[in-house]
Amino acid sequence: MGIPLLDLKRQYQSIKPEMDAAALSLLEGCSFILGPAVEAFETSVARLLGAEHAVGVASGTDALTLALRAAGVGPGNEVVTTPFTFIATSECITAVGARPVFADVDAASFNISSSGIEEAITPRTKAIIPVHLYGLPAAMDAILAIADAHGLKVVEDTAQAFGASYKGKRAGTLGDAGCISFFPSKNLGGCGDGGMVVTNDDGIAKQVRILRQHGSRVKYHHETHGYNSRLDALQAALLQVKLGYIDEWNEGRRRKARRYNELFSDSPVVTPQESEDCVHVYHQYTIRVAQRERVIEKLRNEGIGHAIYYPIPLHLQHAYAELGYSEGDFPVSEAACREVLSLPIFPELTDEEQVTVATTILEGVD
Ligand SMILES: Cc1ncc(COP(=O)(O)O)c(C=O)c1O
Repeated sequence: MGIPLLDLKRQYQSIKPEMDAAALSLLEGCSFILGPAVEAFETSVARLLGAEHAVGVASGTDALTLALRAAGVGPGNEVVTTPFTFIATSECITAVGARPVFADVDAASFNISSSGIEEAITPRTKAIIPVHLYGLPAAMDAILAIADAHGLKVVEDTAQAFGASYKGKRAGTLGDAGCISFFPSKNLGGCGDGGMVVTNDDGIAKQVRILRQHGSRVKYHHETHGYNSRLDALQAALLQVKLGYIDEWNEGRRRKARRYNELFSDSPVVTPQESEDCVHVYHQYTIRVAQRERVIEKLRNEGIGHAIYYPIPLHLQHAYAELGYSEGDFPVSEAACREVLSLPIFPELTDEEQVTVATTILEGVD
């Protein structure tokens, strides 16, 4: 049978009656675009995360794009971010007409390094996008201090870190805006695409609401160039059910991470860092191994799911050739791309499965 990297069917089976009822009620109500389901879900997310505003949009990528636009980022600006992330983190920068400028990550956390940010700042820099990669919040105190000193906006890419916290505050609520993805495989995953911008800034919230609805507040009165980027009501209704379980599910992931840490203790496997300041929500449990190909071969033979997030850093992507970066520019990210390996982690994963995963990996690293 093997062990999947993620098993959404197990999650669905555990909450099936509630999910089915929510879908049915939405279908019967026929209110599909914005409306009460979206409003209720926005209110619930804002309350859970401790944000003033939450605005549902069509994807995490759109959340980032609309948040940057609302924060005033546009042509001629530069935005500093990490090259060790999914490309949506930088796609939003080019989508608003600005230029991505990369800064390397810290080897232990995989998150953007504050000294790297300082070096990347120029007079054209307008914003920083830290990514809370794999569910671990970035070093927000240092990032916010740099932003403050240089008058920059901070848009948090919280796609992988729903529910995580940094010094008691939820990820996504520390900067000017936080951008969430409800892509199905995320910790809080929908049944299709979806995203949200959370913010304590009234102006940003208002602007994102206008941008997501064709640049209009009043129907057929268009104040600015906008987008069709609304969170589907069906997604909102289904996500509302899952929201009730998210802290419990994240705690389940944390327990699985602790178990892997035990299983890998006294081995050459480098396990994820978790600092005292943060609650890591283990969207991914990502190890580092020098002999990655050998380990992958073993996992493949046993039918064990695994993934490399990410094999190529953004500065070396063909899409960014025009930015002029080359190999060696961000050595920490480049080394991470060669060594990282993400293992099965989800709340329903059994202890027996975890032991099988760990044993197989340990055979590969001997
Ligand atoms: C770090 C990161 N940023 C942004 C996104 C974009 O989210 P979406 O797929 O919802 O557009 C994702 C996930 O796909 C992600 O992992």
